Amino acid sequence: MAKPRINRREFLGHSAAGSLALGLAGAARTFAAYEEKPVRIGFVGTGNRGTDLLGTMLAVGGVEIPALCDINPEHLARAARVVEEGLGRKPELYDRGPEDYRRLCERTDLDAVVTATPWQLHTPVMMAAMEAGKYGATEVPAAITLEQCWQLVETSERTGRPCMMLENECYYRYAMLILGMIEREMFGELLHCEAGYQHDVRYLKGIEGKIGPDGSLLWRGEHAVTRNGNLYPTHPVGPAAWCLGINRGDRFTRLVSMSTKSRGMNHKIARMFGADHPNAKRKYALGDINTSLLATENGLTVTLYHDTQSPRPYDEIFRVQGTQGIYSRTLRKIYIEGRSPQEHTWEDDEPYYKEFDHPLWKKYGDEAVKRGHDGADFLEFTQFLHAVRHGLPTPIDVYDTAAWSAVSPLSESSVGMNSAPQDFPDFTRGKWKTPRKILVYGV
Ligand SMILES: NC(=O)c1ccc[n+]([C@@H]2O[C@H](COP(=O)([O-])OP(=O)(O)OC[C@H]3O[C@@H](n4cnc5c(N)ncnc54)[C@H](O)[C@@H]3O)[C@@H](O)[C@H]2O)c1
Repeated sequence: MAKPRINRREFLGHSAAGSLALGLAGAARTFAAYEEKPVRIGFVGTGNRGTDLLGTMLAVGGVEIPALCDINPEHLARAARVVEEGLGRKPELYDRGPEDYRRLCERTDLDAVVTATPWQLHTPVMMAAMEAGKYGATEVPAAITLEQCWQLVETSERTGRPCMMLENECYYRYAMLILGMIEREMFGELLHCEAGYQHDVRYLKGIEGKIGPDGSLLWRGEHAVTRNGNLYPTHPVGPAAWCLGINRGDRFTRLVSMSTKSRGMNHKIARMFGADHPNAKRKYALGDINTSLLATENGLTVTLYHDTQSPRPYDEIFRVQGTQGIYSRTLRKIYIEGRSPQEHTWEDDEPYYKEFDHPLWKKYGDEAVKRGHDGADFLEFTQFLHAVRHGLPTPIDVYDTAAWSAVSPLSESSVGMNSAPQDFPDFTRGKWKTPRKILVYGV
């Protein structure tokens, strides 16, 4: 499918003119209409998450998947079966080593490349995709160094190809509810968000894990050996950034970060595999709980937690506060001055869904919840695939992708410098000053 290149001005123009026109254009669209113009995807990294995402894209519909790439033959064969069962056609397999994704990106019959590899490969794969004229979509975080963040921005600007980080937590029902209420100014002027990735992912279960079944370290565990900071920031920072208007009238300016000592990996491995296991005795750089504080140009703050190796139930926190009200995801409660029935008293958030459920959720919610992360994965692909199909900017753009991912290297620098403040680069080079709405396609 030939697509016009999007230059930088059009990129921002589309985004600024935004959702109203696109919303109307998409109103009559159905899943069936997608079949008329399938989006052709090459997929790199077919592990746990990759295989799940392939299934999600097939469920959204309107895709062809002519090519898959992985260095692990079993993963590749499993993913190929998923594609063949879903589409009735065998994808071509790229299995000639760690750089074979480059050959996949060069194919002329792809519109986009999606990747779910380990973190350090996201930027190289996205750069190869954009250089070859494709849209890119990457699992989170998109980059692990500031240099990689800039590489994404500069490659996207130079090639005119969008790059979307697949930050599914932006599409959770509660996150979109609150975003819609913020757009209606129900919380007044925004002041603060508190959010966290608080998920014990030490032992392999489902799609996460740092420790393999024999006590070996998986690739996430190896990051914990050498890096100390917020290594997985984009789940909490993405929805918070959308709520606070980051890159849409405001921007992150600086960050301070500190970590506790590291105990959780040693404790878990000792308990599961014995105190003499080499990985039980190993020294881990990653502090068990990292806390970062971010400031914005317009005087807002964000507190971020990264807590992935202590025993705990999952909790994303997601507290949003403005001059007129507050929402707490942990409590599932809201208080809005002048609207909540009793002063100083929380209300259940449930009734708000009846009144303010986001249009994307109203339209796709029943289908979406059949897929991962309570439907958020499905919704993010309705948006990415719509953008590719129509040659439009992606709702999470390369500037969001870079700014949200930059939290990792900045927090590592701050922790390493006794919590010294670190300045955020302005990846937009001043374009953040222009207010624009979050793009929503197909409603
Ligand atoms: N958004 C979410 O909710 C969510 C959930 C889980 C994982 N993830 C992200 O998805 C990504 C993958 O995580 P996972 O749990 O599936 O890991 P995984 O280890 O199961 O899968 C990674 C895959 O990448 C392959 N790979 C490694 N090097 C490669 C190379 N050079 N070329 C091609 N393939 C290569 C591996 O063989 C493996 O199949 C990570 O970035 C993770 O953060 C996101």
